[in-house]
Amino acid sequence: MQEPVTEGGATAVAQPNIALIKYWGKRDEQLFIPMTSSLSMTLDIFRTTTTVRLGTEADVDSVALNGKAASGEAERRVLVFLDLVRELAGRKERAVVDTHNEAPTGAGVASSASGFAALALAASAAYGLDLDARALSRLARRGSGSASRSVYGGFVQWHKGQGEGADADLSSYAEPVPVGDIDPALVIALVDGGPKSVSSRAAMRSTVDTSPLYQGWADSSEGDLTEMRRALSRGDFEAVGEIAERNALGMHATMLAARPAVRYLSPATVTVLDRVLQLRADGIPAYATMDAGPNVKVLCRRADADRVAEAVREAMTAGSVVVAGSGPGARLLTEGG
Ligand code: DP6
Repeated sequence: MQEPVTEGGATAVAQPNIALIKYWGKRDEQLFIPMTSSLSMTLDIFRTTTTVRLGTEADVDSVALNGKAASGEAERRVLVFLDLVRELAGRKERAVVDTHNEAPTGAGVASSASGFAALALAASAAYGLDLDARALSRLARRGSGSASRSVYGGFVQWHKGQGEGADADLSSYAEPVPVGDIDPALVIALVDGGPKSVSSRAAMRSTVDTSPLYQGWADSSEGDLTEMRRALSRGDFEAVGEIAERNALGMHATMLAARPAVRYLSPATVTVLDRVLQLRADGIPAYATMDAGPNVKVLCRRADADRVAEAVREAMTAGSVVVAGSGPGARLLTEGG
């Protein structure tokens, strides 16, 4: 066990990840056990930096997000998570949490993934929990499912786990995936920087509960994952892109069929999707993936990233384009006073 940090606290940094095989749907909402396994790439941009200090005097936790006191659902999720860390550590002190996000919060660039990966690491260090990477990914999962993957850098699989209750909790973790030589980049078209209309959590719940297409996608996603792992290990970039694009479009199809429909894709999204098809027709391997928002992430080779970014920018009438590479996992910056 590490010594609990009582002064200075612990600071952790983590980055978002973009899923190439999506997580969409939970079979256990309490424990964040997903319906399907997923696979992502951690980014080298949009850091979240989180410091957790133990407040020996305070009787409530305090949470600041980008310099302002957090409120509503964002605050509630952090407080629930801190209770879980205290329960695991067998401790009672309240915490002071200070988080800074470089990404626009709630814009579909998964700030909850980097956020809970950084919080899991900073809070577990501050409370003296000595977790290995697998246990850390299981803990981060309890804040936000996709956060389990941001514990690691590069390509990462989050296992759906088996059984119920404690068995599911123990077997649903993320781990790195070996890849061949693909040198990937993600060109991110931020077509809309505003907050999302429906949270991914609510949307995935309603999709599982009401979409007649959900089970078909979940079943096909298992096959997509197997094929994706093979394509990654042999460094087959085109296959990786094709599988990622079809998996994402299938996920959005399940949402469109939910009752009521959940539609994150906007006209600007579709314009970028058309441009990606055109790039392929012009011989540049570029493939699109979208999450719970209108932004499009275009997977391409790093050598083609500038050209792809330029083409996507030209197709957009508003917003911005950023280029990301493959980045590192969550890490601790400082510890102790
Ligand atoms: C569309 O991890 O944000 O980005 O577990 O409810 O916090 P909760 O959901 P979250 O969902 C991410 C969904 C997604 C796909 C993915 O990242 O795999």
